[in-house]
Amino acid sequence: PARTAIIAGNWKMHYGPRMASSFALEITPALGKLLNEYPYLLCILCPPAISLSAVREVLDALLFERIELGAQNMHFEEKGAFTGEISPLMVRELCTTVILGHSERRAYFGESDELVNRKAQAALSHGLRPIVCVGERLEEHEAGKTEAVIRSQVQKSLANFRSERACDVVIAYEPVWAIGTGKACPGEDAQRTIHLIRELYADMYGGETANAVRILYGGSVTSANIAEYVTQADIDGALVGGASLKSDFVEIVRKSI
Ligand code: G3H
Repeated sequence: PARTAIIAGNWKMHYGPRMASSFALEITPALGKLLNEYPYLLCILCPPAISLSAVREVLDALLFERIELGAQNMHFEEKGAFTGEISPLMVRELCTTVILGHSERRAYFGESDELVNRKAQAALSHGLRPIVCVGERLEEHEAGKTEAVIRSQVQKSLANFRSERACDVVIAYEPVWAIGTGKACPGEDAQRTIHLIRELYADMYGGETANAVRILYGGSVTSANIAEYVTQADIDGALVGGASLKSDFVEIVRKSI
């Protein structure tokens, strides 16, 4: 495959250090074995910030380098008086990746496209791989505004990257109405929107970059529907929420191979 696929697990606000450690111990041997057999897939675990060290220890002890670690959010500044925040330098000590602009951050914590963009630029300049999330809300979807919303989010959240870095970004298309609802977006519809995202990215950074950038689908992905997504031409994997908290995550990875 031209693009290495990614299956990322966003644990959201689940599993403190103790639970995170035991769950990582439970799933990583099977994940590591699958990834050793298939080099075109990368797996990224994204526990809560407070649990990153605990999962890092498990991964380091088991020597599974191709299971990577990601944070769920970060500040754009390197340090300072920002109570409760974590910085790119801190994330970089433990992680390769950071999820940015998740719809829950946008909805509950007021994150704008401009803020998400600033964080994504900070991630890239610190050698972190940003997974930038975009997606339309239910009312926008029902009003037929999906394309307009995605166009605007992509153009603003993914703006002004240095061109040689733009291919290191990962984009996650997560229709908000599909997140945690069990109502996954049909594979062909996800493909259509993700193809649009790739075209928009080509307008911004050129065809070669757009061809290299990984675009994931997220929203009620399970082992029962993952095949619907990874078989689409423009979909390079998934950002998994609920199902990443269970051993079903291993099945999702298995079915992505
Ligand atoms: O980041 C993950 C997404 O929000 C999807 O969550 O798989 O629970 O629908 P979900």
